[in-house]
Amino acid sequence: MASPGSGFWPFGAEEGSAAAESPGTARAWCQVAQKFTGGIGNKLCALLYGDAEKPAETGAKAAPGAAEQRPACACDQKPCSCPKADVNYAFLHATDLLPACNGEMTTMSFLQDVVDILLQYVVKSFDRSTKVIDFHYPNELLQEYNWELADQPQTLEEILLNCRTTLKYAIKTGHPRYFNQLSTGLDMVGLAADWLTSAANTNMFTYEIAPVFVLLEYVTLRKMREMVGWPGGCGDGIFSPGGAISNMYAMLIARFKMFPEVKEKGMAAIPRLVAFTSEHSHFSVKKGAAALGIGTDSVILIRCDERGKMIPSDLERRILEAKQKGFVPFLVSATAGTTVYGAFDPLIAIADICKKYKIWMHVDGAWGGGLLMSRKHKWKLNGVERANSVTWNPHKMMGVPLQCSALLVREEGLMQSCNQMHASYLFQQDKHYDLSYDTGDKALQCGRHVDVFKLWLMWRAKGTTGFEAQIDKCLELAEYLYNKIKNREGYEMVFDGKPQHTNVCFWYIPPSLRSMEDNEERMSRLMKVAPMIKARMMEYGTTMVSYQPLGDKVNFFRMVISNPAATHQDIEFLIDEIERLGQDL
Ligand SMILES: Cc1ncc(COP(=O)(O)O)c(C=O)c1O
Repeated sequence: MASPGSGFWPFGAEEGSAAAESPGTARAWCQVAQKFTGGIGNKLCALLYGDAEKPAETGAKAAPGAAEQRPACACDQKPCSCPKADVNYAFLHATDLLPACNGEMTTMSFLQDVVDILLQYVVKSFDRSTKVIDFHYPNELLQEYNWELADQPQTLEEILLNCRTTLKYAIKTGHPRYFNQLSTGLDMVGLAADWLTSAANTNMFTYEIAPVFVLLEYVTLRKMREMVGWPGGCGDGIFSPGGAISNMYAMLIARFKMFPEVKEKGMAAIPRLVAFTSEHSHFSVKKGAAALGIGTDSVILIRCDERGKMIPSDLERRILEAKQKGFVPFLVSATAGTTVYGAFDPLIAIADICKKYKIWMHVDGAWGGGLLMSRKHKWKLNGVERANSVTWNPHKMMGVPLQCSALLVREEGLMQSCNQMHASYLFQQDKHYDLSYDTGDKALQCGRHVDVFKLWLMWRAKGTTGFEAQIDKCLELAEYLYNKIKNREGYEMVFDGKPQHTNVCFWYIPPSLRSMEDNEERMSRLMKVAPMIKARMMEYGTTMVSYQPLGDKVNFFRMVISNPAATHQDIEFLIDEIERLGQDL
């Protein structure tokens, strides 16, 4: 495909950067910013438009060869608020940063410069005149910069360049026109919380080393369980490294509940188990079965209706069939918000079947769990309160920075007995505080990242009503897109009716295919349309949306909206862009 010509770039400035605007525009913008924000405006202008607009006190660097380091203050408060030193990073290395002797000023200056780089990236992420992605093919990107690791240390100047270069080629996942994944957006409080988490740099295994974070995990999981509908928020849970792992935890605990001896004796000691999930469910259910030695053949896929919801009668039929063969059904994994269609399985009917056959009911709400925050949409998960376990990923619909996924378990203590190994160097039984706060032994991991703080801080900042508004807005935008395209020439919906989640699945039919008969040739041409439009989107960098085939359906677009920055105009932009890039196919 030809590389994008300047005529094709829709924003006027080829590079798409604010700096590409005329100096006059930049200056006018700066004047407005300075008028309203004073010092912050100055700083922002300097970040966006370069040193020309930068006030002297924001730390212009000494030219190479200048004095290595000039002390900027004589005060003994560390850290202080005095202007930072002029530091020539060309002569400095990581060994000059703390804990180096007298390393305070250099460290503060270096980290402030890193923050400046990050702030510049953050501000640009929301600027619609910048590209979502500066796409390069892997071989080009490998040659674009020296990414190799060497024996000798780089200077701090080079380290800062590494940071800038890495962000230059990163996808702006907070950009209002980034719709590619279920996890999108860039939340400012979430970002601040992530920075704090990294600065605290601790491990979740015991209260001893993560007192605040362990308590926050306790408080937050209890609140999430309350929202699931378990009385008083009672039960158990853990933050895990993603929905796939949360689903695997559910399978592990369900197996242990039925056959506790499996922990010591392994699979050879128990009968052949089978699990059930819908044909639209996430692949992690099968992955979990493979990892736990249950085997992917033991995951029985239940048929779905045309909207992608599990058909309960087929579930019951397959359970009976498995029992007749002598297998032991131990888990049904229902999905609340499937990955592609955004379908919600009928949880009440599934709960009735699980109760009848005494099977553990898990609800994979990795994608749809966020709707529990919305009074308008939470009915879609009716019946979730009857589940034995629930996966809920705040890093998807709630916009919490990756990674943040919770597994919630109705029965307290089960996770602990299933996973605990009593390592005596971590979980000493004669510590001087309440040992129930040493929660690490219920995890599969030893060390565990602090994932809770960003969710907790965002929840404090927005309140439940703030999350609700954010989620309602995304669903409203999805409906807006659906209404715009359902009868528009050149579009076919993959399934009929209003989307239940923010997934809008459709084919774009280019003019050349519109009058063709619905035969094999048309299918094979249609199959190539979405990948070609997507490739063009990435090359121009204007927007990103996902596509896939599913069952007998050839490649179609799956639009999802979880990005709180998106607006009606961005939806209209996406439609125009698909048509602009696909009309000649
Ligand atoms: C329904 C569902 N479950 C589980 C997952 C896995 O979540 P994660 O990517 O956090 O592992 C996904 C991911 O898209 C999903 O859509």
